[in-house]
Amino acid sequence: MNVLGVETSCDETSIAIVQDGARVLCNSIASTQDVFADSGGVVPEDAARRQVEFILPVLHSALAEAQLSFDNIDAIGVTKGPGLMGSLLVGTMAARTLSYVHNIPLIGVHHTLGHLSSIWLEQTDTPLFPCLTLSVSGGHSDIWLRQSHTNGILIGSTRDDAAGEAFDKGAAMLGLPYPGGPSIAQSAESGDLSAFNFPIGLSQEKTCDFSFSGLKNSLRLTAQKHASNLKSLQADLAASYQEAICLQLSHRIECAISLYPEIKEVHVAGGVSANTRLREILSSSVQPLRLRTPAALSYCTDNAAMIAAAAYFMHTEKHEASTKAFETAATVTD
Ligand code: KG4
Ligand code: ZN
Repeated sequence: MNVLGVETSCDETSIAIVQDGARVLCNSIASTQDVFADSGGVVPEDAARRQVEFILPVLHSALAEAQLSFDNIDAIGVTKGPGLMGSLLVGTMAARTLSYVHNIPLIGVHHTLGHLSSIWLEQTDTPLFPCLTLSVSGGHSDIWLRQSHTNGILIGSTRDDAAGEAFDKGAAMLGLPYPGGPSIAQSAESGDLSAFNFPIGLSQEKTCDFSFSGLKNSLRLTAQKHASNLKSLQADLAASYQEAICLQLSHRIECAISLYPEIKEVHVAGGVSANTRLREILSSSVQPLRLRTPAALSYCTDNAAMIAAAAYFMHTEKHEASTKAFETAATVTD
């Protein structure tokens, strides 16, 4: 079954075609990250305008790359939310129009279910259930205990900022460009991760939740204290700050593993899962379990292949969802 995925929840415009939830036939992405590099984050109105500009060129390039036409598409999956309203409207209107014109069923996909499904793309062997999935992006930080693609419970989430948001806001404080994750990771390469002792959120609690506000405040105060030589301390601050984020994520996964000994694998998905240091720490902390990451970096950050995969799994599992949080039951119609 070929599913055409459409993802326009933020500043990336992406269209993909995925066969049976795993084989990526094309995954076209137009990113405007460099446009927002100096603004510290995405400007919603500008992002929506760029979605309008890019949606048709990206659609044409996806179909050309896969060498397919709409006759070969069995369903369309589109991100229905959460995300920036203007950006989402562009993708959902485009998907509805294509569905109507070509008479192809349309499936509305929760953005987080897309990230959870990204793990199945282009793997050499099939991931196993039950699994724990750490989904960490600019908009959410969650731990899911999953029995199937669309059945699971949310066992932990952030009480304030998302992990990616902590990277983005931390980068702005250090004078590094947006998106903060890659720029902090790059600066951290030449820094000393033990130079500064930043707090690990909620370390006194036995919880699967996250909190990054105390850490962010601590970075703000430290940056203020060293304002006169911030540039020379930038790499050390980036490395120590990144370490505190990654250790918190790893501690919560260790806590989740201890609570659910039946799990067979641990997955990490979402934009922050591209972080090399996080992967390094997690692979040793989940032992003897296997840590599975998206097969390519382009499947970590927002992309339409993961939305197409999620739509396929919603179709094969008949949209059943045991929790309200998954919100997979709704099909976008007219
Ligand atoms: O999943 P995503 O593309 O969009 C959302 O759903 O939010 O995630 C974007 C987030 C941004 O906050 C970005 O700073 C972070 O993922 N990110 C990273 C890395 N690459 C992207 N964080 C840490 N290390 C990275 N290498
Ligand atoms: Zn995302």
